[in-house]
Amino acid sequence: MNAVSTPETTALDGPAAGKWQAVAIEGMRHWTPVLRSFRIPRPPGFRFVPGHYARLGLDDGTGKPVWRPFSMVSGPDDDFLEFVVVLVPGGEFSERLRSRQAGDEILVEKLSLGFLTLDQLAPGRDLWLLASGTGIGPFVSLLRDGRTWRSFERLVLAHSVRRGDDLAYREEIAALPGTRDGRLRYLPVVTRETLPGALNARLPQLFADGELQRAAGLEIDVARSRVMVCGNPELTREMRALLAARGFQPGRRGVPGQMAFEKYW
Ligand SMILES: NC(=O)c1ccc[n+]([C@@H]2O[C@H](COP(=O)([O-])OP(=O)(O)OC[C@H]3O[C@@H](n4cnc5c(N)ncnc54)[C@H](OP(=O)(O)O)[C@@H]3O)[C@@H](O)[C@H]2O)c1
Repeated sequence: MNAVSTPETTALDGPAAGKWQAVAIEGMRHWTPVLRSFRIPRPPGFRFVPGHYARLGLDDGTGKPVWRPFSMVSGPDDDFLEFVVVLVPGGEFSERLRSRQAGDEILVEKLSLGFLTLDQLAPGRDLWLLASGTGIGPFVSLLRDGRTWRSFERLVLAHSVRRGDDLAYREEIAALPGTRDGRLRYLPVVTRETLPGALNARLPQLFADGELQRAAGLEIDVARSRVMVCGNPELTREMRALLAARGFQPGRRGVPGQMAFEKYW
């Protein structure tokens, strides 16, 4: 496993010379001792689509930066880039990031990439966003983008974490106008303790049992539902199989589908 949650589709090599720049970290938020978000200024000309990731690099003075890909959490029109990271003991990038704070330097690739984007999905009525751990990041970016709200009538965001404290962005999501007016149903899922108001089993089981759909007050069917899954690779594998059995297909060669995935680490 990589040092931190990373989309596994990307090589861990750094970008070529001239394809990255150094910026100062603007702010760091500690959700738990091992879970944090940070912001950097958006480099001039840096454009991305929600769901994309870019490589970040940390140099410890040896001139050999360690690079890892991270999904953007910020919205596409924000003047900052935001990322969410879980620190893994002994991880090369994690150990370098652990002591970093606002004002410290980080390297950022000038390009962004990725397939967990709305263009991978055929038009539909309901958008389901299923995340585990830091897989919430690209979905927060999607929710910060007006296009997402214009593209679907109903949205469901289910976030599976071990403990309640790991529910990063919970308050921001609960405060969204779309949550308050009922267009977005936010479903926290906490698997290693009991938290009032949260579901308490892994997402594939909740889906297979219909508990997820009952909690959202919506069915999941291929005619009207579009599903994005991001996080633990086993979770993405299991959800892909369960959804495929109900007729869902991923986008292929420019033909949009009904489901899209990003595996982390
Ligand atoms: N979060 C922490 O406090 C912490 C601390 C130190 C290191 N780390 C490391 O960082 C990495 C990421 O940790 P994380 O807590 O963000 O992610 P995680 O271990 O993947 O857990 C996040 C959520 O995904 C669920 N999950 C795990 N495997 C699944 C599967 N096969 N199918 C469906 N759901 C599944 C977990 O349920 P279960 O609870 O049932 O597993 C939990 O609800 C891990 O390798 C971990 O060892 C995390």
